[in-house]
Amino acid sequence: MKFFLDTANLDDIKHYAAMGLLDGVTTNPSLVAKTGKSLKQVITEICEVVDGPISAEVISTDKKGMIAEGLELAKIHKNVTIKVPLTEDGLGACRELAQQNIKVNVTLCFTSVQALLAAKAGATFISPFIGRLDDLGQMGLELIEDIREIYDNYAFPTEILVASVRSPQHVRFAAKIGADVCTVPPKVIGQLMKHPLTDTGLAQFLKDHEKSSE
Ligand code: G3P
Repeated sequence: MKFFLDTANLDDIKHYAAMGLLDGVTTNPSLVAKTGKSLKQVITEICEVVDGPISAEVISTDKKGMIAEGLELAKIHKNVTIKVPLTEDGLGACRELAQQNIKVNVTLCFTSVQALLAAKAGATFISPFIGRLDDLGQMGLELIEDIREIYDNYAFPTEILVASVRSPQHVRFAAKIGADVCTVPPKVIGQLMKHPLTDTGLAQFLKDHEKSSE
């Protein structure tokens, strides 16, 4: 499974890229707004740090505007992946951009039939938001299972990019289900590494070492 970092914060991106953990980065308008920088500046900086798909989301909601924005954003770098929402206009823009060999990440996906349409439209990635489904008391991971089954039934090349990830358990089960990518917030990627027994075990090793060298 590929790991993308779900942030526009360059320091966090540099930190985890330096560990060799990152296969790409996803941003969205809310994450970019936190930086105080323009989308073009943010995406340009990220493309200089991570050699993989970098998602940049359009702001337009009409097909024509999405396509125009997507074509402009794609000029920033070969790795730029255009994020469009899963709407009628978004699917239309996806088809047009895909036909121009521009990678598209269709986002804000909440049902398996939405994901089916995105695959038909030529999406490179589909982003089901599992955390937001969990927030409603639904089982976000069941959506990943359904999409995986449907995509495998028809050998769709669209990659399942699990988004709205809130915990290491989300990552664990996304991997068990066979998702292609998990886009993980910096907080969660940090949690993936941690276990209290690792910390206490290391402390004991060091304590025993100190005793032996006394
Ligand atoms: O990539 C989408 C992600 O940033 C949304 O996460 O936690 O706002 O649902 P969240």
